[in-house]
Formats: sequence, C-alpha cells, structure tokens
Amino acid sequence: MTTSSPEQAEFAHVTVLRDAVTAAVVAAAAARETVRVVDCTLGGGGHSEAILLALPHVEVIGLDRDPAAIAAASVRLAPFGARFRAVHTPFGALAAVLADLQIPDVTSIIADLGVSSHQFDTAARGFSLRHDGPLDMRMDPSRGLTLAQRLEAVSLEDLADILYEYGDIRRSIGTARIVLQSVQEGADTTAKLAQRLAARLPRDRNVHPATLVFQALRIWVNDELGELEALLRDAPGQLQPGGVLAVISFHSGEDRLVKQMMRAQAPKKYGEFMRGKPQAAGDEEVRDNPRARSARLRLLWRNRPGTPLDVADGDED
Ligand SMILES: C[S@@+](CC[C@H](N)C(=O)[O-])C[C@H]1O[C@@H](n2cnc3c(N)ncnc32)[C@H](O)[C@@H]1O
Repeated sequence: MTTSSPEQAEFAHVTVLRDAVTAAVVAAAAARETVRVVDCTLGGGGHSEAILLALPHVEVIGLDRDPAAIAAASVRLAPFGARFRAVHTPFGALAAVLADLQIPDVTSIIADLGVSSHQFDTAARGFSLRHDGPLDMRMDPSRGLTLAQRLEAVSLEDLADILYEYGDIRRSIGTARIVLQSVQEGADTTAKLAQRLAARLPRDRNVHPATLVFQALRIWVNDELGELEALLRDAPGQLQPGGVLAVISFHSGEDRLVKQMMRAQAPKKYGEFMRGKPQAAGDEEVRDNPRARSARLRLLWRNRPGTPLDVADGDED
C-alpha cells in the first residue's frame, strides 16, 4: 500500500535494514492481540510502513523532530487510518509523550538514527557539503540555535572538544581554528565552509576532507548524543515483557553509546533484558544504498518472566 503525492515525491529516503527491523517487531508481536510500536525516527515513514503492512493489527506512533518528515510520512501512511499517528517531538521526550497519550507500555520501540537523505539533499536545511545552503543544520528548524549562531559564540577549546568527541578528529585544535577563521573570513554557507576546509585540511581520496567536521557540527547542533542517551535510558522501561528496542546507528559515537547502554541493561543472558547480535546490511543492500554500509542494528529484548527468549542469541561484539 503506497501513495504518491508531491510531498512524498520530494521526500527521498531509502529505508535501511527494513526487513531486519520488521522481523524483530513481528517476533515481539507474536501471540498478542494488541500491538503498539513507537517509531522514534519516522523520517519518510519507511520502517513504519513496513511494520503496518506486516502486522494487520498493529498501531504505530511515529515521532520526529522534523516537521517536514511528519508531513511527508503522514501523507504516505494516511491509508492506514487510525492505526498510525504522528507526533512532532524529539525522541528524548519518549516517556513524556507516552504518558501524555496515556499509553502505559508498548510492544516495540525502533530508532533509525541520524539524518534522512531528504534533510541532506535539501540545500536550505544547511546539512550538506555539496548543496549550498545556510549554516543551519537544525533537524527542527522551528527551535534552537543554528550552526551560524553557535559558531559565533563558541570558544576555540569547546569547538575542538566537539570535533574530537563527535567526529573523531585528532588534530582538533587546528581544525577548530580553521573552522572559526573560515567563518570570520566570510564563509557563511555550507559550500563556502566546505571549500575553505577542503583547501586547508589533509586530503583523503575517497571522502571530502570536511565530512567528519560536518558530522561533528551536526551532532552538536542537534544534541544527538544527549537525545540518544535519554532514549536509551527511558525506552527499556516502556517495553512490555517480550518486547524489543531496535536501534540502528551510523557512526562509532552512536554505536558505542547504544552498545554500552544495552550492556548495562542486560549484563547477563537471561536477566530482565537480553541483547541480540548486532546486525549489518548485506552486500546487496549496500550496493543498492551505500548509506547502509555503516549501519549497525542492535536489539534489546525485555524477557517474559521465567521464559528465556529464543529469538536472540547474545551480543558477541
Ligand atoms: C534516518 S531518518 C529515518 C528514516 C526512516 N526510518 C525511514 O525509513 O523513512 C532519521 C529521522 O530521525 C529524525 N530524528 C533524528 N534525531 C531525532 C530525535 N532526537 N528526535 C526525533 N527525531 C529525530 C530525523 O529528523 C530524521 O527524519
């Protein structure tokens, strides 16, 4: 069941690890009459649609902090009627959102982290090295400070820490200095900043020299790791016994956090929680969608009391 509309045609995003996420959600739904799923990163609605198609009795609540994602996914998923509803919110507020909706617990919670291709490819959003736009990078353009406003106020030392922590950039003081100088010298758009960084940073044959700098700045502007910490802290407690939390990460900072927090929740194989093996995209998916190359899916199952789960087989990574 798909629809075609101007909003949807403009919202291009290929869903990553769709089948693996859907399989986990379907396993958690087994033998239940009522199945509720929270998709914390609705985006274009790709995971939500796959779940709505796979489970005729599921209700999906889709969260996103980007109003453009809420609008596009609401059009795409309108044919599912009352089985789908969208909430414009950061997922760090998951517990408050479920309390507001008077939903005591849910069967599955999924999160496909980072930005959508639509956000990257829309120049005016200011995420891209290649499409020239303002220094913005906010996932929710209706609130918070833009990248330009933050760069005006940040100290050299704090920016260096941000580049080191969120971009694994080793020569972080030197790189921070180049970023601040570039902006002071008039680099007021993404393409101008990218060009200046490319002229002064070491070259790598395969990736644009500014890629990791842009990644770090985006994570900073959106407090992405703070949001992820709040989600990982609150989501397990919202799951029904037998339910699953499924998180797809795209870079080492995210994946480290997901792994650590899932390990802390599930230290032993048959405790209250149990981890699944991390999963990556197969060769075919990576060939069709290069963005899938760095995707890692990690699962955390809430055990049914006294019933060791057989759907997961332990985290070896
Ligand atoms: C990779 S896309 C999701 C794509 C979606 N799974 C699909 O298949 O169409 C990530 C989405 O999550 C949203 N997002 C990222 N961090 C968020 C947060 N902390 N709270 C709410 N939404 C967030 C982004 O705005 C973006 O729309």
